[in-house]
Amino acid sequence: MNINQLILERYSVRDFSDHMIEPEKLDKILEAGRLAPTAKNCQPHRVFVLSSDQAIKTIREITPSAYNAPIVLMIGAKTSEAWINPYSHHSSAEMDASIVTTHMMLTAWELGIGSVWVCWFDVERIKKAFTIPNDIDIFCLLPIGYPATSCVTSRNHLNRKSLADIVSIIEVK
Ligand SMILES: Cc1cc2nc3c(=O)[nH]c(=O)nc-3n(C[C@H](O)[C@H](O)[C@H](O)COP(=O)(O)O)c2cc1C
Repeated sequence: MNINQLILERYSVRDFSDHMIEPEKLDKILEAGRLAPTAKNCQPHRVFVLSSDQAIKTIREITPSAYNAPIVLMIGAKTSEAWINPYSHHSSAEMDASIVTTHMMLTAWELGIGSVWVCWFDVERIKKAFTIPNDIDIFCLLPIGYPATSCVTSRNHLNRKSLADIVSIIEVK
């Protein structure tokens, strides 16, 4: 599948089948995250795989947005390893983790595996439940799995602003 077709077809999957993700496909998804670009190549990101019955039960108790996915990826970063912009003093950690997540989301779709990007959770509850070290921030979850046959796109999927709404051409005179 080429990238344009992939971007057009992908949608947030919130209803998953029982079919388990094959280990080699999970490896490909994780590898796509590993190869993502990061600021100054600092690679501060960390990916946690929740797949055991207990881990899945716990994450479903913490957020309704884990849905019925068989695997949930938890994406964060070791903040001390991230690049800090010397002008704004902003850390690149969240941007880096977002690019990693995007790589994994698109690669999953290419393999026929659906996902949904999730930020609706209490990060402190997650850190406590999964004993995440203090120096690691968790930014998002990516529940992944084969879409259920009944899975459909949400109303939001086709609702996008026009290019005119979001793009401005700046001409310097
Ligand atoms: C940063 C971010 C946070 C999101 N958080 C959630 C979430 O917590 N729960 C959820 O069901 N969907 C979540 N989504 C999915 C969006 O609602 C979805 O991408 C958007 O409505 C467009 O739909 P589409 O992905 O099907 O094109 C999130 C997406 C992004 C990019």
